[in-house]
Amino acid sequence: MATTRCCCVLVLGFAALLFVSLASATEVSYDGRGIKIDGERKLILSGAIHYPRSTPEMWTSLFKKAKEGGLNAIETYVFWNAHEPLPRQYDFSGNLDLVRFIKTIHDEGLFAILRIGPYVCAEWNYGGFPVWLHNIQNITFRTNNEAYKNEMKIFTTLIVDMMRHENLFASQGGPIILAQIENEYGNIMWKYGQDGKDYVQWCADLAQSFNIGVPWIMCQQGDAPQPMINTCNGFYCDQFSPNNENSPKIWTENWSGWFKDWGSQDPHRTAQDLAFAVGRFFQLGGSLMNYYMYHGGTNFGHTAGGPYITTSYDYDAPLDEYGIPHQPKWGHLKNLHVLLRAVEKTLLYGYRRDIDYGNWMSATVYSYEGKCVAFLGNSNRKLDITVDFQGKNYTVPKWSVTVLPDCYTEVYNTAKVNSQTSILVKRPNQADDGREPYKLKWVWRKERIEDIKKNGLVPDSVLTTNKLLDQLSVTNDTSDYLWYMTRFDLQPGDPFCGKVVTLHVHTYGHVLHAFVNSKFIGTQFAKDGKYEFVFEKNVQLKQGTNDISLVSATVGLPNYGAYFEDVKTGIHGPVQLIDYAANITKDLSSNEWIYKVGIEGIRMQLNLVHTPHQHYWHAEALPTNRPFVWYKTTFPSPLGTDPVVVDLLGLGKGEAWVNGKSIGRYWPSLYAGKDGCPYKCDYNQSYSGSQCQTNCGQSTQRCYHIPREFLNNRENVLVLFEEFGGTPDVVSVQTITVGSVCANANDGTNLELSCQGGRVFSDIKFASFGEPQGTCGSFKRGSCEAPWALSFIKNRCLGREKCVIPVSEYWLGPTGCHAAEYRLAVEAVC
Ligand code: GAL
Repeated sequence: MATTRCCCVLVLGFAALLFVSLASATEVSYDGRGIKIDGERKLILSGAIHYPRSTPEMWTSLFKKAKEGGLNAIETYVFWNAHEPLPRQYDFSGNLDLVRFIKTIHDEGLFAILRIGPYVCAEWNYGGFPVWLHNIQNITFRTNNEAYKNEMKIFTTLIVDMMRHENLFASQGGPIILAQIENEYGNIMWKYGQDGKDYVQWCADLAQSFNIGVPWIMCQQGDAPQPMINTCNGFYCDQFSPNNENSPKIWTENWSGWFKDWGSQDPHRTAQDLAFAVGRFFQLGGSLMNYYMYHGGTNFGHTAGGPYITTSYDYDAPLDEYGIPHQPKWGHLKNLHVLLRAVEKTLLYGYRRDIDYGNWMSATVYSYEGKCVAFLGNSNRKLDITVDFQGKNYTVPKWSVTVLPDCYTEVYNTAKVNSQTSILVKRPNQADDGREPYKLKWVWRKERIEDIKKNGLVPDSVLTTNKLLDQLSVTNDTSDYLWYMTRFDLQPGDPFCGKVVTLHVHTYGHVLHAFVNSKFIGTQFAKDGKYEFVFEKNVQLKQGTNDISLVSATVGLPNYGAYFEDVKTGIHGPVQLIDYAANITKDLSSNEWIYKVGIEGIRMQLNLVHTPHQHYWHAEALPTNRPFVWYKTTFPSPLGTDPVVVDLLGLGKGEAWVNGKSIGRYWPSLYAGKDGCPYKCDYNQSYSGSQCQTNCGQSTQRCYHIPREFLNNRENVLVLFEEFGGTPDVVSVQTITVGSVCANANDGTNLELSCQGGRVFSDIKFASFGEPQGTCGSFKRGSCEAPWALSFIKNRCLGREKCVIPVSEYWLGPTGCHAAEYRLAVEAVC
């Protein structure tokens, strides 16, 4: 009897639990028109934010800005090599806390899209693969290979189980509504023949076997097996249709800008073009769109891929590297998002009718339950086109989409930007008196130049062989640096004895430093996207023993392509001494080579705050232009909440740490090419990543983000390892904030203006409603204007962090102009 009652209680308890979890569960399904949340089609506007590219302290504010920007979902990849740096040793701490990241998304009331991969590309080191994978016997990545599939399954299962354990799938009441397996495999699948096809099927089966209760996607995979949804990545995806009529049209990567390489200009994608791409996608039946990236962030430590991806992963995204809205992009897209979401029902349930006007001009009308939404899409890059739509004339600017949410009123056009442009300023970190910029005081010490000792050994070397080895096979990427050292004797009478000859080194990059007989000979690095190069320098050889020490340094491992296990780095040879005049060569490639991984300063923990080797830092005679030097300084935390950067102009190349945390590789001495920066950026072109560049002829990246979370209230320690040689004389810590804002908004819109970091508007420098002329910073009044614009705006905005201005004669006064359209131009100071 007692047992029965106990059972009943248990059953009831279980039923109650089941009820609670089912009650909070969300059913995610789909059909050809959209993703359905609890049976209702839902327009999903999502943004990629990668958790390791910011800090947990930044996450909430990034999500709030995404939500305020009109998004309802956040997407992220999962970064395998960050989580499993060594086989079965996992790290989910700090900014790798995936569970916390997803929970924070949930707390903000947003959906999550989890792209597990585990290959991710993402301009991330080695595309997310742990480098140790390539040591597994007979492994071939991303194909029907047992060793690879085994590892992929172990890691993927771990992630799925972790999410499930925390109830993070929508089917369990969590925010994750979609999951992705693999990444753009379709782009390279042909290289693997039948094995590639079998692998895709295996990926689909693996995903299905997890039973996560939410749909799976495969991007750029035209042959994705059902029920995998194949999706599109690109600058434009309006022409895409999935491979099954019951799959919705999903755009997993809408590239909001582009990434940057060391030595390249800054890429920009205009707000108008990006909005146009979004407008076209939803005009032509889109249901889910994800910006890649919405916030790009920072490649801390050695996480940047490449080779040669910069530390900044700003991406020209709607939120900049530091999380500040990148205006006018953020605001222009927000206006579109708000509008699209207001008409989502009509879009996703409505009857669709397309009208082709010719000349690349079309209209699409959606009608549902008496409501009507129309898109007027002009894909003509040269012509503004006027059409008669349902008895009314509309002029649609070239390369733009107009949205009529009631099939009548033009509420939005992608080429007409009615949001503010923010002008960011950098402010120096101030000394205690609050007036003077804080002057950094530096100490320094030498990095050890490794060479073979008298006894023929190198302390802490890892390997001696009679051949040249691939860098990764020795370092496993535990360091960027690998020393290759050899020694040879020259007897009297040897034709090389006492001669100046050429040292010839063939390397797969990315950087090479050479020392002969402890003397620095030279440095060379990969240029123009060619990572394999030959180093040649004259060297003086002596009679007796000669030593050669070569340091090869990597600058991010490749992240894209097929056959990752074949990636080559470092010195593969030959290494030769050549007397060109006498036409004789001495090949050292099969000499005895001694290998040492990494640099001594790291072994001594000079980059950390509390180290056993605090002494031997010198305050005097700070060296300039000397390679292989450590610099150290301290600085107080800047007041306020504005993002903090360190400007490293003056330095060469190396790595920087703040309070022991790596803020990434730096290379301010590498300048972007002089050409390719247009004076004016035309939005009306099919974007490809190289138009609209800026920063020509300037340092590729001089400012490096120091997240506030890395700082403390006391003294902060900044350490630099300088590999090329430079000077820290002008290095300064700064904050970044919005200094002033400008806007040029159309009649009939609501203009939102805002400062940043708690700052308020202190002055309205210019305001004119009518026919103002000029651009931001040089606005001029037209011949007519409304009388109250300036006083109205002063009243609304001064002393406030944000304000909204209704752009109309009703509020700003009669303009007395006779133009067809009036505009409001404003310049305000924060
Ligand atoms: C895609 C890839 C992304 C990212 C992007 C370029 O091909 O899926 O991970 O690398 O290109 O930023």
